[in-house]
Amino acid sequence: PKDKDWVLPHLYQYQGFWHSPKYFRGLLACQQHFQPLDTDIILITNPKSGTTWLKALVYACVNRVIYPPNSENHPLLTNVPHDLVPFLELELYNELNHLPDLSSIASPRIFSTHLPYVSLPNSVKDSQCKVVYLCRNPKDTFVSLWHFCNKLRNENQGTLLLEEAFDLFCRGVCINGPYWDHVLSYWKASLELPRKVCFVKYEELQENPFVHVKRLADFLGYSFTLEEEKIGVVDEILKLCSFENLSNLEVNRTGILSHRGGGENQAFFRQGKVGDWVKYLTPEMSDRFDQITRQKFEGSGLDS
Ligand code: A3P
Repeated sequence: PKDKDWVLPHLYQYQGFWHSPKYFRGLLACQQHFQPLDTDIILITNPKSGTTWLKALVYACVNRVIYPPNSENHPLLTNVPHDLVPFLELELYNELNHLPDLSSIASPRIFSTHLPYVSLPNSVKDSQCKVVYLCRNPKDTFVSLWHFCNKLRNENQGTLLLEEAFDLFCRGVCINGPYWDHVLSYWKASLELPRKVCFVKYEELQENPFVHVKRLADFLGYSFTLEEEKIGVVDEILKLCSFENLSNLEVNRTGILSHRGGGENQAFFRQGKVGDWVKYLTPEMSDRFDQITRQKFEGSGLDS
């Protein structure tokens, strides 16, 4: 299998979702061995839904007392968000013959995963730990994923054609896909378990970051005080985690992260916009997405 292919069908289907063989060991090990603490926070996304942003925001929120967001030595200024909030199945549990020792990580520990709800370790479902799910509209997610896949591909693999990737994506064949089932599984979980699972939309976060970051902090048990709001702590966090700021930091502009398929850190920052898909999808493609979205989300209360 071409382990750098995130879209093409060199993927395994497991529990109804497609997974890369490269991370399959991590998936199983994580399901079997991960033991969350009640104070843990798990950030969950479909790939390219804004994981990097969510990691930065949550890290900055829950650590704001030890690391004020305007401090010159804030860890986000010198660390890629993915290094502050590691992936469970892609990274921590994906080492050959080695299980991670997570006991030395200071609380609150923040982890992330792309696993669908059905594949989340039971230990996560049984514990009091909090889950945040970030959802992004399928069109922008797809376009972002297509760009990302092509960045990871080498010369021998050539370019992944948009039409080819689109067709596969529509049929559910992409990393952690089907996209719609992934989103729906967490949407349902958030309705059933509102104190356990918080469902956030990338578009809403872009439109009104102040409100949604405060909502996130409330959910996680790290509410901002009125005094903090007054002196601009929330705004400082938004500024620190903004696309403009993060994408221009040296640490995010350079360097390669081996456990992320050899991809460059830079690949996690492209446009950071809502609606960029219009530059890539034809009206027919857009209609097909709308149709699938309507079919899949019908009756769920989820609209995009
Ligand atoms: P685009 O490719 O549309 O620009 P992920 O982090 O899940 O891999 O998602 C990557 C997407 O989130 C990319 O989308 C990237 O540009 C965007 N992104 C990264 N950092 C961001 C930030 N601080 N604010 C908003 N979007 C961000």
